[in-house]
Amino acid sequence: MRNTPTLAETKQRLERTGQEHLLAFWESLDDARRAELLAAIATLPLEHLGSMLSQAASLAKPAASEIRPVRPYMRGMADAEKYRTIGDDLVRRGKVAAFIVAGGQGTRLGWKGPKGTFPATPVAGKPLFRVFAEQIMAAERAYGVRIPWFVMTSEANHDETERFFEDNRWFGRPRGDTMLFAQGMVPSVTLDGKVMLEHAWQPALNPDGHGGSLKALRQAGAIDHMQASGIEHLCYFQVDNPNVHVIDPLFLGLHVAAPDSSAEMSSKSVLKRDTTEKVGVFVKAPRLTVLEYSDAPKEISDARDASGEIIYGEGSIAIHVIGVEFIRKLTDHPLGSVLPWHRAIKKVPFVDPATGQRTEPAEPNAIKLESFVFDALHEAESPIVLRTDRVEEFAPIKNASGEDSPATSKAIQVERAVRWLKEAGVPVPCHANGQPDCAIEISPLTARGPDDLRRHPPAKAIVAGSEMLL
Ligand code: UTP
Repeated sequence: MRNTPTLAETKQRLERTGQEHLLAFWESLDDARRAELLAAIATLPLEHLGSMLSQAASLAKPAASEIRPVRPYMRGMADAEKYRTIGDDLVRRGKVAAFIVAGGQGTRLGWKGPKGTFPATPVAGKPLFRVFAEQIMAAERAYGVRIPWFVMTSEANHDETERFFEDNRWFGRPRGDTMLFAQGMVPSVTLDGKVMLEHAWQPALNPDGHGGSLKALRQAGAIDHMQASGIEHLCYFQVDNPNVHVIDPLFLGLHVAAPDSSAEMSSKSVLKRDTTEKVGVFVKAPRLTVLEYSDAPKEISDARDASGEIIYGEGSIAIHVIGVEFIRKLTDHPLGSVLPWHRAIKKVPFVDPATGQRTEPAEPNAIKLESFVFDALHEAESPIVLRTDRVEEFAPIKNASGEDSPATSKAIQVERAVRWLKEAGVPVPCHANGQPDCAIEISPLTARGPDDLRRHPPAKAIVAGSEMLL
């Protein structure tokens, strides 16, 4: 282990990199705070900060003329069964692990704890982490295999997340089958590139984005661990989508065996609801890329074909399968990963080095750097996209109210449960307008889809106006 640099060494480094203000309060700090500050400064990528910022500022956006639509595979495709069987086999042979990114700050939802602890389901109010754990457990039972679960946290929520898993006895799965690790942090900087102070003894940091997950997996030893235990592919998902199919054999089968897939990285899409929906879309430019809503030229986002279908409509829902060897390749890099930096201008409270005043800014005052996992698609030889059904796999919880809120997510979860029951031939009471006259929640341990409900229909009839947990 390296020793923390001395004060003299740190001063020299700060002078060299133009960040001397980080020691503005040195004289007023006690020994413990001084040690904390020196250790924190030692971890900052000060020598690279200038190039990270200029790279983020000059990130090229594709011109409309370069952009082409992608041709996705369809969930209902003719030879789906063939690929599903290939995926089943992959899971059964222990080649697959689950990977959730849960290091985000969840500011829009405003929940007091880690987002995975949010009670998300419509009847039982199960927390998101439990929903995913039960899905993994259901897949483990169905396939007769252990499926390791990698959980990325951040420095800000790691301990609380770990405590939550602990308090819930790891959701009934063996402790060793869940691996928690924290993602990296990057300094928040002023608009002129100075690292901000959160406290007199502490630089302001933010998590390095979901793209940081690849580097964090590598640094936590997870890639070595996976390769030593024969795991070849990771099912990547986000903490905010209770309808995700964590282990999806069709998706896995296509990822490893579709004729045009390099088995490095594959993604799921849903068709955009309308041209104005604020979602990133998969396009070719000429490599597969997620074009952010805000970066899409209007002639691209508005384009429709002769039948009226949105041409650039493959909305990204942040569900991927990523090859473990591909992650190793991407993270063989001096800075930990080849993914580019993006910048967002945000409000960050700070201690003013000139006055010592802690300030809550009224206007955005800081640059936050982040990397995005979907940028890895750009590096993949031949990535593929599978278009899935929105209700089936996408019920995001982003905001406290309105769109993509707990209320809209619950409604979609119920809609999917009703759909599964109807497909399985179970009568569901409905209003005259076709809307269900009941709230149903189906535990992942009860059914992973309509087929399980057909085999094991509910013991009791569903009564109009009732709430039922199956
Ligand atoms: P979001 O883009 O929704 O960001 O993350 P967020 O930080 O959770 O929420 P807001 O924007 O502050 O409201 C999408 C997914 O990526 C994870 C989140 O936990 C979520 O699963 N994520 C995001 C990370 O793991 N680390 C990050 O640095 C950012």
